[in-house]
Amino acid sequence: MKTPKALEALIDDGVIDEVLRPLKSGKEAAVYVVRSGDDVRCAKVYKDMAQRSFQQRVQYQEGRKVRGSREARAIGKATNYGRKQQEAAWKNTEVDALYLLRDAGVRVPEPYGYYHGVLVMELVTDADGYSAPRLGELELTAEQAREFHAVLVRQVVRMLCCGLIHGDLSEYNVLVGPDGPIVIDFPQVVSAAGNNAARRMLIRDVNNLTASLGRWAPELLDTWYAEEMWALFEAGELQPDTALTGRFVHEQGDVDLDGLRHAINDAREEALIRQQGREAAAEAD
Ligand SMILES: Nc1ncnc2c1ncn2[C@@H]1O[C@H](COP(=O)(O)OP(=O)(O)OP(=O)(O)O)[C@@H](O)[C@H]1O
Ligand SMILES: [Mg+2]
Repeated sequence: MKTPKALEALIDDGVIDEVLRPLKSGKEAAVYVVRSGDDVRCAKVYKDMAQRSFQQRVQYQEGRKVRGSREARAIGKATNYGRKQQEAAWKNTEVDALYLLRDAGVRVPEPYGYYHGVLVMELVTDADGYSAPRLGELELTAEQAREFHAVLVRQVVRMLCCGLIHGDLSEYNVLVGPDGPIVIDFPQVVSAAGNNAARRMLIRDVNNLTASLGRWAPELLDTWYAEEMWALFEAGELQPDTALTGRFVHEQGDVDLDGLRHAINDAREEALIRQQGREAAAEAD
């Protein structure tokens, strides 16, 4: 295909040899299948910051450390320089997270570098070599759903042990390869320590997965992994391989269980609304 503008510099620099086809254009990025020598990979081109809601950016920037004070001030002000820096900070966050998480043994695509604002990474495929389906596109048996849930909860634990929370985890940001689920899409990753919304985000992430996989294995809807792992994390007792039960005793007067169950349903609804937004954005492209 004709090389998209955003990928021309990567071809000029010899990072990739050819753009094979567009894979998916979402509201935040366009992903292409590319060839580097004998390897087929994918390239994620980020769309303009202006398309993201202000509130979303503020929430996500909270808890992220910025190096120099000039940079910090610039991000604070809505100057042109500030906007550029913020954009760069956003784009680099996903790349940094992928390298960190990959090293920590989290199931994420292998990153192959960040060039001219484009992330080059492993193309996750199915058994036939086609780009892998998303978790939400599959029909599962109860057994598969339970197994995928366990694998994904483990990935969330490993991320938390790295001090990170995905922040937008759902069946749309999990691909399923022949060896099981792989987590993608990290630009909004948040620090577990520095952000006071962290616990809420962790619970939302896990609720999204539980709500999706609970369709196939309803007993999952009565598990409380996020609450359990957060309590251990706060106590400094969470390890990447800590065994979890899914049971959690809520402190008296702390929360009402009915409210939490509603939160699960809300998560399901929220995920649906988000997907409709994505589809609308894709159609508008
Ligand atoms: N490494 C990968 N291997 C295979 N497919 C991928 C990979 N990365 C992304 N994709 C595909 O591209 C889509 C968009 O990628 P991603 O979720 O990272 O970007 P996004 O702009 O945030 O998209 P969305 O708004 O749909 O969440 C994914 O849903 C998936 O189908
Ligand atoms: Mg996504």
